[in-house]
Amino acid sequence: MTANLHTSFLGIDFENPFLLASAPPTALIESIDKSFEMGWGGAVLKTITPDDLEMNEASPRYAVLHDRKRIIGFQNIELLSHQTVKYWCEGIKFLKQKYPHKVIIASIMAPVNKDAWQDLVKTINNTPADAFELNFSCPHGMPEKGIGMAIGTDAEVSAQITKWVKEVAQKPVFVKLSPNVSDIARIARAVESANADGLAAINTVRGFMGIDINTFKPLLNVNGKTTYGGCSGTMVKPIGLRCVAQIRQASKLPILGMGGISSWEDAVQYIAVGSDAVQVCTEVMLNGYKVIGPMLKGLSTYLEEKGFSEVRALKDKAIATLCTHENLPKTPLAYPQIAHDVCGRCGKCVTICSESEHQALRLDDGYIRVDKTRCVGCGLCRFVCPVGAITSGK
Ligand SMILES: Cc1cc2nc3c(=O)[nH]c(=O)nc-3n(C[C@H](O)[C@H](O)[C@H](O)COP(=O)(O)O)c2cc1C
Repeated sequence: MTANLHTSFLGIDFENPFLLASAPPTALIESIDKSFEMGWGGAVLKTITPDDLEMNEASPRYAVLHDRKRIIGFQNIELLSHQTVKYWCEGIKFLKQKYPHKVIIASIMAPVNKDAWQDLVKTINNTPADAFELNFSCPHGMPEKGIGMAIGTDAEVSAQITKWVKEVAQKPVFVKLSPNVSDIARIARAVESANADGLAAINTVRGFMGIDINTFKPLLNVNGKTTYGGCSGTMVKPIGLRCVAQIRQASKLPILGMGGISSWEDAVQYIAVGSDAVQVCTEVMLNGYKVIGPMLKGLSTYLEEKGFSEVRALKDKAIATLCTHENLPKTPLAYPQIAHDVCGRCGKCVTICSESEHQALRLDDGYIRVDKTRCVGCGLCRFVCPVGAITSGK
């Protein structure tokens, strides 16, 4: 059996569920051309704006977070596409002619002005792009002009612009939401009631990577100054997954999930909490378009091994596990079980247990013992055991 990787979103057929997110990997037509050759199912173009929208970029634009030698996230302060609307319209036609089965989504942003949004939409209506992604979520630079995240953090303005776009759009319209809000479900419901056809989440998470403690200069140092930027990559995956699950619970609209996807396993998780397909940016910037190869192969093999004939079967598989804290089944407690033949007696579990309140583990006669009168079953000890000797028993 070969698993079927086809999926659909807003009635658009996707040959596989992996799209490039709107970002530097989709900033040039020739790059998207190359990515399609390598197997990506589609691309969301770097956000297109009206030609007269001023954009002054800063240099440098990135800081990174390392976990030992590996980069696990970016903070970026890059703005939107620097190409003209004409460049994109011609480029979309070229790409669709060459790759009729690949999905091309026009990401757009304009000032909060009906004509500005509608003119942009009407121009792109004349191209073979498959849908519009409304960028209401860029967290740097644009909010200072009253757009980007300034739109996506305001439910009324988000709904108003969605209505303007829907009045004239001749293609499906979905909204890319910001994680930088206290209640993403509220914004999702607002654009749903304004007739959005779908949702995407997340854009980058607003953050500040740090300072050099010798010079007190920011790590993202723009001639001695810095600004808050958008964080992406592995370090934001828990935030992205949470947002997608929350909007799946709040709305019936189809979703494109993203945020920290670096493997097929991450994609499975996003689909299982409600995404129809996924978008990837930082992983592609770090390791190239070629990461699509292992993603496709891994997903296919996984589906076959699990006995799923198609990727669509994964959708929402895990969403019912999410409930409020109040509704969690609180018993039985998950006491740790120690494999004494594997345990190296290093004492790391004893330290974390005693210094994280409970003092339920002790080294006694050369064995780790669990005092069940003190253990609360928090499960933390499992994660510090370097040899995997602790499991969470029931
Ligand atoms: C350098 C950079 C530029 C980006 N530019 C855009 C953009 O123009 N429009 C947009 O909607 N999102 C933009 N994004 C956000 C990504 O599309 C994506 O939502 C985010 O990076 C999370 O996905 P990831 O963790 O796979 O990178 C940008 C991200 C990065 C890192």
